[in-house]
Amino acid sequence: MMTAPLKQPEQILVEVSLGERAYDIVIGRGVLQSLGARIAALRPGARTVIVTDRTVAKYWLDTTEAVLAQAGVPAARIVVEEGEGSKTYAGLQAVSEALIAARIERNDLVIALGGGVVGDLAGFAASILRRGVDFVQVPTSLLAQVDSSVGGKTGINSPQGKNLLGAFHQPILVIADTAVLDTLSPRQFRAGYAEVAKYGALGDEAFFAWLEANHADIVRGGPAREHAIATSCRAKAAIVARDERETGDRALLNLGHTFGHALEAATGFSDRLFHGEGVAVGMVLAAQFSAQLGMMAPAAATRLEHHLAEVGLPTHLQDIAGFAQEGLGDADQLMTLMAQDKKVKRGKLTFILLEAIGRAVITGDVEPSLVRDFLQAKLVSRS
Ligand SMILES: NC(=O)c1ccc[n+]([C@@H]2O[C@H](COP(=O)([O-])OP(=O)(O)OC[C@H]3O[C@@H](n4cnc5c(N)ncnc54)[C@H](O)[C@@H]3O)[C@@H](O)[C@H]2O)c1
Ligand SMILES: [Zn+2]
Repeated sequence: MMTAPLKQPEQILVEVSLGERAYDIVIGRGVLQSLGARIAALRPGARTVIVTDRTVAKYWLDTTEAVLAQAGVPAARIVVEEGEGSKTYAGLQAVSEALIAARIERNDLVIALGGGVVGDLAGFAASILRRGVDFVQVPTSLLAQVDSSVGGKTGINSPQGKNLLGAFHQPILVIADTAVLDTLSPRQFRAGYAEVAKYGALGDEAFFAWLEANHADIVRGGPAREHAIATSCRAKAAIVARDERETGDRALLNLGHTFGHALEAATGFSDRLFHGEGVAVGMVLAAQFSAQLGMMAPAAATRLEHHLAEVGLPTHLQDIAGFAQEGLGDADQLMTLMAQDKKVKRGKLTFILLEAIGRAVITGDVEPSLVRDFLQAKLVSRS
């Protein structure tokens, strides 16, 4: 009997075309195995430090270290607490000092192994260490694979707000191993899925329709998962290549985020609402608001809502944990939280609104009173 040939991991390459800062995103089941060889080829002789969090370390640090060792790449490790609490001055200080202690120099590499928290923190630490050391992203959450690991935004939070301190610092390589997502909690997976659906909603109706048909296979970890991640990365890479520093089009990626960030703030950035869940509710609100303004057919807003709900995401303010007990504050409080968002320019709110599923537009002059009245109505009734 013949033995089946050893199956090479299938991989999809997506290039982020940024001239001399261009890099590859490698997507597929098992591609983590190629990390060591790729680093050795990209940066011969480099020493590395893996920055990760405790949860990810438990599942994936040994594998990652083994893969690097096999390729002869020396690797130290820095393990932070999981969660947003590490994206702080204290977290940055700890990681920066540990990188210095590990004697990471200009030609060495930082490896961010984790979700968006680790990616943002390690990337920012790399950007300021010795005025800039290169880094590699190994995103381990769905959100990080389709969003935060691509595009070079890095940073930490300040007590005044999220992501207020940071730098644009592009990675030199992104390794998105879709098998790594198998250890992610279903709720975290769904939260990341909201960002996948976002790419369909903002610019690709055909992808959105494909998601409506294939979401179960994406969750299950079938071949649709790779396709969904690759399509999302291609969408983000195209936008980032056009507008790296968000002076225009890149703002489209904020669909659902102005409302979503206010809801995250209203729930104290707690486990009541994950970022992606806030984006899901925020996208539905943006769609309904677009319909109310007469920009989009109400049926399109309903279609978006149905898809997100089918995947198991919250879609209404009333779905947010603790709504009945603790509420979310009133419409004026939500407006204040939105005004603190970075997307405010001289009193007018910038919103990403929808003309159709697959067609988002940046609207810079939304009258705040209209938003307030819209939110007030949503707070009193789930409609
Ligand atoms: N830089 C950007 O462009 C950008 C874009 C979007 C979001 N973000 C940032 O990303 C952060 C959110 O990212 P996130 O949702 O990945 O959060 P996260 O990094 O906190 O990860 C979520 C949780 O999942 C755990 N986890 C991650 N991978 C796992 C795995 N494979 N198995 C088991 N557990 C795993 C983590 O330990 C954590 O507890 C926020 O801070 C947000 O501001 C940045
Ligand atoms: Zn987001």
